[in-house]
Amino acid sequence: MRVLVTGAGGRLGRAVLPRLGADGFTVRAMSRQARHDPTVDWVVGDLATGAGLVEAVAGVDAVLHLASLPGGGTRTHRVDVLGTRRLVLAAGHAEVAHLLYVSIVGVDRVPLPYYRHKLAAEQVVASGPVPWTVFRATQFPVFLDDLLGTASRLGPVLGDPAVLAQPVDQHEVAERLTERLTAGPVGGIEEYGGPQVLRYDEAVRAWRAARGVRRPMLPVRLPGRLGRELRAGGLTTTAVPTGRRTWNDHLADTYGGTGRR
Ligand SMILES: NC(=O)c1ccc[n+]([C@@H]2O[C@H](COP(=O)([O-])OP(=O)(O)OC[C@H]3O[C@@H](n4cnc5c(N)ncnc54)[C@H](OP(=O)(O)O)[C@@H]3O)[C@@H](O)[C@H]2O)c1
Repeated sequence: MRVLVTGAGGRLGRAVLPRLGADGFTVRAMSRQARHDPTVDWVVGDLATGAGLVEAVAGVDAVLHLASLPGGGTRTHRVDVLGTRRLVLAAGHAEVAHLLYVSIVGVDRVPLPYYRHKLAAEQVVASGPVPWTVFRATQFPVFLDDLLGTASRLGPVLGDPAVLAQPVDQHEVAERLTERLTAGPVGGIEEYGGPQVLRYDEAVRAWRAARGVRRPMLPVRLPGRLGRELRAGGLTTTAVPTGRRTWNDHLADTYGGTGRR
């Protein structure tokens, strides 16, 4: 099967490319920048302008759409919503048989501006001409790790201790996506999360221990509906199967057992 992967150079894309290659897919990878790599057929395409999209979808059987510009403002709208529409229309003209769109668990519940755009993009996919699947994943451990690094930049680790998260390893997501491509379009939404639901303070405790960080956690209760949804598990899913790799597995792989990078 010939597959175009958008956002192929991102966190998930870097896990997806080797997985697809190992499973015998013929992969075309899209980025806004020209990339040179003898093992992957890279093409240049920009969702914000539409440049290169017609060429990118030509001759492929499926599109795995990962590209996104997190944020929530007009730039995100241009890439995630209007760009997804451009991609879907180009894929429709090219008679692509399956568009698999990666979204996030909670986009329909958690009132974050970025999530509003992801939900709108899901609707673009679902109402478009290409047979589709929406695949919502929970947060990747690498993302949570970066988030905690940012949350502790000024000293203590800031955050609402009771927020729930369910990190899922991006390599396991890549494996699942490969299976979904093989299975074909379902015309519906599938969710996929990690093996454990963790409170933010538990996740922070393990992260501090793994990194040897002594700075304390400074609890900040998130106000309003956003806080309520996040504490009620808006970012988690009861879907099975789940990934197998835990937050502690990620920390052990990344920082080792000595508490250092
Ligand atoms: N991170 C998480 O924890 C998480 C969890 C669940 C779901 N997701 C979803 O999974 C997908 C991949 O996430 P990720 O963490 O791998 O994202 P990422 O690392 O931010 O990568 C996103 C990619 O999108 C591409 N992109 C941005 N603007 C573009 C444009 N105008 N035209 C074409 N490509 C553009 C970029 O590629 P170039 O710079 O190479 O052009 C970038 O590599 C996203 O849809 C995200 O919402 C993420």
